[in-house]
Amino acid sequence: MHAAVVRTIGQPPVYGEFPDPTPQEGEVLINVRAAALTNLGKLVTYDPDYSAGAEVPFVAGVEGVGTLQDGTRVGFAAQRPPYGSMGELTVSFAPLAFPVPDGVSDATAAALINPGFSSWLPFASQLKLEAGAKVLILGATGVAGKLAVQIAKHLGAGRVVAAGRNRAALEQLPSLGADRVVSLDQPEEKIAAEFAQEAGEHGFDVVLDYIWGRPAEIFLGSLPRSLEAEGEVRYVQLGNSAGPTATIEGNALRRAGITIIGTGSMPSLDIVKDVWERMTDAVVKGSLTIDVDEVPLSEVHDAWNRETPGRRLVFVV
Ligand SMILES: NC(=O)c1ccc[n+]([C@@H]2O[C@H](COP(=O)([O-])OP(=O)(O)OC[C@H]3O[C@@H](n4cnc5c(N)ncnc54)[C@H](OP(=O)(O)O)[C@@H]3O)[C@@H](O)[C@H]2O)c1
Repeated sequence: MHAAVVRTIGQPPVYGEFPDPTPQEGEVLINVRAAALTNLGKLVTYDPDYSAGAEVPFVAGVEGVGTLQDGTRVGFAAQRPPYGSMGELTVSFAPLAFPVPDGVSDATAAALINPGFSSWLPFASQLKLEAGAKVLILGATGVAGKLAVQIAKHLGAGRVVAAGRNRAALEQLPSLGADRVVSLDQPEEKIAAEFAQEAGEHGFDVVLDYIWGRPAEIFLGSLPRSLEAEGEVRYVQLGNSAGPTATIEGNALRRAGITIIGTGSMPSLDIVKDVWERMTDAVVKGSLTIDVDEVPLSEVHDAWNRETPGRRLVFVV
């Protein structure tokens, strides 16, 4: 088959020949139609924390959309190296191949999987988002953040505050459901003042943080320090586009009643399946949108490091 093959760790994959996969017990064989290029997909090609010791050569890509041998169109995760999602064929653990409804294109479904689940799964599982909750999205201008704004509103959040740098994307966020945007492209005192004003006396119920680094430090330092009896700020750490580390004052954590949650583990398959059905249904009904740029898989090498702010690049097979 043809595939996007990682031949050197840290280098973009090249389009070339790769042996066809043979499904093992519990797996399904998939004719791939579209595969999204996510930050996770990039991490797998160079970061040992994510590649689980995969040895080159291997096929790039983590998730995508394709057809089973009976013709059913599915969204899937490819998790058995060396077979990633960016090949003409791949294999997936059968329970992680979910039907894609009519009305959702291959590219949209492929683009939705990683960033859509990133907010909807914690909202539905650990967080059990309550109607009327006040939610802050840090990194709301990225693909995952823009979806998180829409998903929070769709699930009944009362107020969604969206923070990011990119001005054009910030301007788009109110039309996606943000009640207020906070620019991270201004002096730190102003950012902190806007966070503090939004937090008011009772802080936020939920924070989804896709960026970490300095913006997380500014936000956590800006919270009122008298919330211990009032409730809990559930702070979900999802990504670190702004920096791999953040220094947090102990006082801020205690006084502002913050619980930090990592989202490395997956909830039960029943929850994942239910969220996928609700998410794709929201796309069909027009209440969830994602901007995609489609590129032929044969152009993977040149497109790999292309900047597409707020839009998801999807390779079409
Ligand atoms: N845990 C999960 O399940 C999960 C799932 C999806 C994504 N993620 C992670 O979440 C992050 C965002 O993913 P994405 O798909 O939304 O990627 P993306 O579309 O490339 O968005 C990147 C985001 O990071 C922001 N950013 C980059 N550098 C920054 C800096 N120095 N300071 C402040 N903001 C900065 C961008 O802001 P501007 O555009 O405003 O510049 C944008 O909002 C990545 O780290 C990704 O690995 C995690």
